[in-house]
Amino acid sequence: MSDSIQEQRDNALQEIVSATNLSILEEVETRYLGRTKGLNELRRTIGSLPKEERPLFGARINEAVEALTQAIEVRRTTLKDADLEARLASETIDVTLPGRSQRNGRLHPLTQTSNEIKRVLTGMGYEFVDGPELEEYRYNFGKLNYPEDHPAMDEQNSFFVTDDRLLRTQTTALQGRVMAERRPPFRIATIGRCFRYEAVDATHHHTFHQVDVFMVDEKISMADLKGTLGTFARAMFGQETLVRFRPDFFPFVEPGVDYSIAWRGRWLELGGAGLIHPNILREHGIDTEKYTGFAFGLGVERVHMIRTGVDDLRLYLDNDLRFLKQF
Ligand code: FA5
Repeated sequence: MSDSIQEQRDNALQEIVSATNLSILEEVETRYLGRTKGLNELRRTIGSLPKEERPLFGARINEAVEALTQAIEVRRTTLKDADLEARLASETIDVTLPGRSQRNGRLHPLTQTSNEIKRVLTGMGYEFVDGPELEEYRYNFGKLNYPEDHPAMDEQNSFFVTDDRLLRTQTTALQGRVMAERRPPFRIATIGRCFRYEAVDATHHHTFHQVDVFMVDEKISMADLKGTLGTFARAMFGQETLVRFRPDFFPFVEPGVDYSIAWRGRWLELGGAGLIHPNILREHGIDTEKYTGFAFGLGVERVHMIRTGVDDLRLYLDNDLRFLKQF
């Protein structure tokens, strides 16, 4: 019996000394000194020994337990110190290393352009109002004086979600919402995403952004429209900018025009405009003898493209940082 005490003591000491971390050491401790393990298991056999051998046996067990407990404590202290040292070494900061530069985020070029458009129009007295991207048919088309069979309402041009709801194809849709609630005079502008079921190419996307501006007041004429567009275009493109009108058709204006700006020796089309059709004002109970209004709309992508020379509007939605970082 006492041989196995010695054997356990020797083995345990050997394992304690070679334990390389605290969890191994704990495992060794449990195996030899646990309540029902190792030496304590041996201690329970004391009853089976002749009476005279028992005191010596008990004393040797106690000695062995004492020796192992001490050895474990010593080893534990050593391992803890080593652990701490290793942690300190690994967490040391080399203050001589060059710092990592922070990468600053920035606004998307279309957000930058939209913000600038907002700043200019707000400065000209326009109030910005948001409309929903998922729009009712009546606001997108119905209340904008579209004839029953106008081709712009074909399903090819729109993403219909239900029979009477679609992703708005133009921010002009806001007009009906505003006129249902407000009485003139008002000056309103809106900016946001539009969607068309369109073959995507360098100048057309299924998802793009528009600005719409409209005002209703007494004695508003094409001269007010031209003056306002001129001021807006000069603020956006520079003091030398000229604006040209050409007749065009949009159901919600009469007369209707498209307008271009002179830019680096060329006329570039920006959008559509005109005097708000009297049918629309009448539909909202606005006295057309007293009030007239103008409206114009344009593409945000187009503004940025003209100013920077970007020649493919698909780039705006690609989210390629190599493109976006340039602005
Ligand atoms: C309109 O959407 C009219 N609502 C504009 C308007 C407002 C006219 C108020 C009169 C009074 P148009 O479909 O031409 O018009 O679009 C206006 C501008 O939006 C275009 O000049 C173009 O810059 C931009 N745009 C239209 N469709 C797309 C498209 N698929 N991708 C990118 N930009 C587009």
